[in-house]
Amino acid sequence: MTLSIRIEDLKVYYCMKRGNCQAIEDISFNIEEGEAVGLVGESGCGKSTVAFSILRMLPYPGQIIGGHIYLDGIDLTDLTEEEMRDIRWKRVSMVFQGAMNALNPIIRVKDQITEAIMQHDKKIKHKEALEVARKLFNLVGMDPERVNHYPFEFSGGMKQRAMIVMALACNPVFVIADEPTTALDVTVQAQIMDLLKKLVDELGITLMLITHDLSVVAEICSKVIIMYAGKIVESGSVIDLFSNPMHPYSQGLIASIPSIEKSSDQTLASIPGQPPNLLDPPTGCRFHPRCKYTQEMCKNTDPPAEELKSGHFVSCHLAAGRIKSEHYRIGLEDKN
Ligand SMILES: Nc1ncnc2c1ncn2[C@@H]1O[C@H](COP(=O)(O)OP(=O)(O)OP(=O)(O)O)[C@@H](O)[C@H]1O
Ligand SMILES: [Mg+2]
Repeated sequence: MTLSIRIEDLKVYYCMKRGNCQAIEDISFNIEEGEAVGLVGESGCGKSTVAFSILRMLPYPGQIIGGHIYLDGIDLTDLTEEEMRDIRWKRVSMVFQGAMNALNPIIRVKDQITEAIMQHDKKIKHKEALEVARKLFNLVGMDPERVNHYPFEFSGGMKQRAMIVMALACNPVFVIADEPTTALDVTVQAQIMDLLKKLVDELGITLMLITHDLSVVAEICSKVIIMYAGKIVESGSVIDLFSNPMHPYSQGLIASIPSIEKSSDQTLASIPGQPPNLLDPPTGCRFHPRCKYTQEMCKNTDPPAEELKSGHFVSCHLAAGRIKSEHYRIGLEDKN
C-alpha cells in the first residue's frame, strides 16, 4: 500500500491555567512514501509536539486545536482512540526522544518485544513473535541471541537499537525518530544514523527524523523542514535549502554548522537572542524580534509560506525581495 502523510494547518496548544502554550501554529507539510524528512529547529520549537500529534499521543494538557493530519487520505484527527489503535505502531510508529531507558531493565528483552508484538496482533503466537524479534535484532546489527539478555546488560547504543526494534516490531511503514542519538557518543551516533539510513534505503520505510543536528539531516534526508517557535519557516529539498537558505533563521542555522573544511579557529555564527515564550508569542513573524532584516510589516503580519522555487517554501515577507535585490547586485536579474 502506498503511503502519504499530509499535515494541513495543524494547531496544537498546551492549555494551562496560566495560559495556552501555542506550541504549533498552523503548520502544513507533506511527506511522500519512501522519503526521509528532517524536522529541525531549536529546543522548544515544537518538533516533538508535531510527532506526538501524528501519533495522537500528546502529553497532557496538549490538544489539537485545529487542522488535519491525513494518513493515506484518512484524517487521524477524526479517529476515535480505538480506531487510532489500528494505526499506531502498525502503520506509524516512533522512537521516542530519550527513550533509551524506556525498556524495563529487569525483564528480558525478548519478553518485552514479544509482549509488544502480541499486544498489537492478537493472532500472532509467542513463537512467531520471538522469531520476529530475532530477525529484527539481526536487521539492526545485533546478535539475535541478545534477545535473551536483560536491558541492564546493554550499552547505550544497544539499548537504542533495541528501541528501534520496538518501533519496527509491528511492521510500520512510517517511522518517526525523535532525537534518536541524544546521549550517545559520536561513533555510536554515526552507527545509529547508518542504521536509520538502511531502513529507508533497504526497507523503503518513510522516515521523519527529528534533530537539532543539520549535518545529520544532510547525511540521511532528502527533504528538510525548519521550524521556529511553533511554525515552519522554510522547507525544501536538502540540496536546495542547504545551498540556498532563504529564511534568515535557516541562514543562521546553516552558518552555525561546523565544517572540517573551515579552519580550526573558525568562529561559528550564532543567532543572537532567545526563542520566544510560546505562552505569549510575538505578533506577526515569530522570528521578528531576532531578525536583522525586520521591518514594520514583519511585526504585524504573519508571513505566508511562498514557493520561491519549485518545492522550496519560505515564510518571510522579505525573502523574495531580498533575493531579488541580491540578484540585481550580482547581475542575475535577467536570468531568473
Ligand atoms: N506537557 C507539556 N505541558 C506544557 N507545555 C509543554 C508540554 N510539552 C511541551 N510543552 C511546550 O510546548 C513547546 C514545544 O515543545 P516540544 O517538546 O514539542 O519542543 P521540541 O522542539 O521537541 O524541543 P526539544 O528539542 O527540546 O525536544 C515548548 O514551549 C514546551 O515548553
Ligand atoms: Mg523534543
